[in-house]
Amino acid sequence: MLIKKPSDIHPDEVTDYALYRERRKFISAGIGLAGAAIFPTAAAKAAATRLEFTHPGQFDTREEKTELEKITHYNNFYEFGTDKYSPASKAQALTTDPWSVSIEGEVEKPFVLYLEDILKKFPLEERIYRLRCVERWSMVIPWTGFQLSELIKLARPTSKAKYVEFETLYRPEEMVGQRRRVLDWPYVEGLRMDEAMHPLTLIAVGLYGEILPKQNGAPLRLVVPWKYGFKSIKSIVKIRFTEQQPVSSWSKAAPREYGFYSNVNPEVDHPRWSQRRERRIGDFLKRKTLMFNGYAEQVASLYSGMDLKKFY
Ligand code: MTE
Repeated sequence: MLIKKPSDIHPDEVTDYALYRERRKFISAGIGLAGAAIFPTAAAKAAATRLEFTHPGQFDTREEKTELEKITHYNNFYEFGTDKYSPASKAQALTTDPWSVSIEGEVEKPFVLYLEDILKKFPLEERIYRLRCVERWSMVIPWTGFQLSELIKLARPTSKAKYVEFETLYRPEEMVGQRRRVLDWPYVEGLRMDEAMHPLTLIAVGLYGEILPKQNGAPLRLVVPWKYGFKSIKSIVKIRFTEQQPVSSWSKAAPREYGFYSNVNPEVDHPRWSQRRERRIGDFLKRKTLMFNGYAEQVASLYSGMDLKKFY
């Protein structure tokens, strides 16, 4: 795929801002019609929220997908409360229009990308991935998104860029959980450059072929399927390339419990519980947790020679 740098983007390719707002208003109206429901009515849905995507399937798990209802009503999103049930309702207060992501740090030239342009630039794919939470539950989610590597190529990082840091929006007026200092806001996460460039690493903008529900990290979030769920940061507004390893929110809050790598690893216990087993949401019995969440074939080589007990 031909990647253009921002200065090469022809004005015709960039959405007129007024038009963009009108279109988003239409989408919001569709969502409004559905009342308390999270998804719009069938007509509005077909017109406004379906995402066009291809389905390469190369990395897909064949396991049964978790029901949409469960994916959207059992969430971790501390910006909207520390329990699993608040984000489904409280996140509806989040304004996701307009939305932009600033690209900063070790890049040839920092710039800002509007969501509408991101959606136009990167061809979307569906990827069916497992998500394994550090709390020993898991789901199978059909994400719609694009490879983070595409965005990184567009960003043109310098040779000093060794890591990528991601930051969530800070807006306590809408993100009620940010009014309490349960974490050092804004939520931040990081990846090593080779992890960020890996073809499994996605920026998701939707799930089940619809635009991303707010409680799942609208309008765009990271998905790193071989790492514990908390690495998959939601509602991203900043991507910064750095020379030094970033300090993520969870490793800052509890460094003994959450390391920078946080690869799913049944051999390394969390200090307060074993990581050997997990409960697939919707199942009664627990199942064995797989090394790198079942993606060892694709990613184990990234960590060859590393002591994964030390670099947990
Ligand atoms: N991103 C932000 N900004 N805030 C959060 O609290 N929680 C993480 C991750 N991303 C979190 C976040 C955790 S702990 C998990 S398990 C996943 O989001 C859950 O994603 P889901 O709610 O879409 O299943």
